[in-house]
Amino acid sequence: MAFSLILVGALAAAYCFYHVSCVLLLWRRRWQMARHHGCKPPRKLPQIDPFLGTDVVLQNLGAAKKYGFLDLLKKRHEANGLTFTTNTYLRTTINTCDPDVIRSVLALQFHDFGMGPLRRNSASPLLGKGIFTTDGDIWAHQRGLIRPAFAKLQFNEFPLLAMHTDEFLGVIKRHNYELDLQQLFFRSVLDSNTLYLFGESIGLMHDNATESATTLHHALDYAQQGTILRLRLGNLMFAHRDKKFSESCKTVHAYAQKFVDQALEFRRKNAHLPVEKWEHPRNPNGIQTYIFLQELAKETDDPILLRDQVVNMILAARDTTAGLLSFTVFMLARFPDVWAKTRADVLENYCEPLTYDALNSMTYLRYVIQEILRLFPPIATNSRMANKDTVIPVGGGPDGKSPLFVAKNHVVTYSTFVMHRRKEFFGEDADEFRPERWETLRTSWEFLPFNGGPRICPGQKFALAEATYTIARMAKAFKEIVSLDDTDWREQLTLSLTLNNGVHCRLVPDDS
Ligand code: HEM
Repeated sequence: MAFSLILVGALAAAYCFYHVSCVLLLWRRRWQMARHHGCKPPRKLPQIDPFLGTDVVLQNLGAAKKYGFLDLLKKRHEANGLTFTTNTYLRTTINTCDPDVIRSVLALQFHDFGMGPLRRNSASPLLGKGIFTTDGDIWAHQRGLIRPAFAKLQFNEFPLLAMHTDEFLGVIKRHNYELDLQQLFFRSVLDSNTLYLFGESIGLMHDNATESATTLHHALDYAQQGTILRLRLGNLMFAHRDKKFSESCKTVHAYAQKFVDQALEFRRKNAHLPVEKWEHPRNPNGIQTYIFLQELAKETDDPILLRDQVVNMILAARDTTAGLLSFTVFMLARFPDVWAKTRADVLENYCEPLTYDALNSMTYLRYVIQEILRLFPPIATNSRMANKDTVIPVGGGPDGKSPLFVAKNHVVTYSTFVMHRRKEFFGEDADEFRPERWETLRTSWEFLPFNGGPRICPGQKFALAEATYTIARMAKAFKEIVSLDDTDWREQLTLSLTLNNGVHCRLVPDDS
């Protein structure tokens, strides 16, 4: 008995000794690596609770409740520099709005950082193994899969967009020109996305939208909220038990599956022909339309992979584009002189049907869109996790100019919202809405609405075309946008940034 106790004690001591030695060795190796590269510790956000960071978490929650999380972040950077760390729930986060740090993480040292297990585990019930949740070779394969489909879309989007926008303008008329345009943009963007992705619009804009369309709309919202909650719970994610969340994910998957089956049928029917000869459907004007999912089905017949890609794409495109359009109209309604200039620019270059070339000549409209993306970037904060110990050349030391050691599993969070409002880059009036600044402004990594590096948004061209096309058609159809709400914008920050107070306005048709 005594011998057994001694044996157990010795084993426990050896086990503890082994682990303590490992931690000390790891600590020494990291210390040597940091010293070798001349790293200096970054600034720290003053915290009352330095380990769990409960004070920081409570401050974040309080600010979010008052629609002011991004403002809090901006103030923290003003007080603590471009790069500083926070410790919450035993996890160290490096917070930055320094373009040099961001460029290192997203591009120069792309292979040292990834989405990491946190994002993967929180989002996988909805997004599966889609492009947003994967890293390394699996991600590279997914990115390769969607590339040809995007290339096709870019040459063929206007006939569909024209039909879709006619319908959008029709809905405004049916509402007697008075409505919350943000609500309509959410529906409209989901309609146009499903049209491009599946070849069939979900039909949410119709007054009598089908039950399955409305169910999908709500399921997407609920599943997205649950995903964000899981992300925020971080290490406590296992506590998330919500039947409605699982059901919502299932509803979204079932909806996508129906179209995946159609795309696979398309693949089977054409299998005897070389891919260039596969017969695509034609739209009511007789124009051959490229459906994203069919393009994807040329590359793979894996139904789960196809489904995951489609769900990822719907989510990537919906709130971002709807947010961009909503903020644009919100600001145009509040700046009648900017609206007048935008309109003049659109009308001068307008042609029927509206073409890419015509849109490209609308320079002032482009400045307006850039200015909205600067002030209200749809992805206002983002993050990456280090997948190994690494050193980035800036971010360390009190001035943030020394090399910075980043340990494996530490998170780098970056805020485009804060960076896009830095006076050094955008001038003393950086907080103001002034599209004219783009006449002379040349930007690099300090303006990053679509991300940078290998994971840059593949839908950028498509989103900008959809947004400029929609605003140009609105400028042609309406001579005035009257705001029906005199409050300032209120932040609604989920996966992307939108307006908590919506965009309530009256549009005055141009009957001339
Ligand atoms: C104004 C509209 C949009 C903005 C501001 C935007 C912005 C972004 C940003 C910042 C990312 C990087 C996310 C990250 O790495 O964590 C991203 C990724 C992505 N976006 Fe967009 N996006 C927009 C519209 C679209 C559209 C319309 C589509 C598709 C039709 C799309 C498809 C994607 C995809 C697939 C990714 C993942 C890329 C990857 O990880 O390799 N986006 N987008």
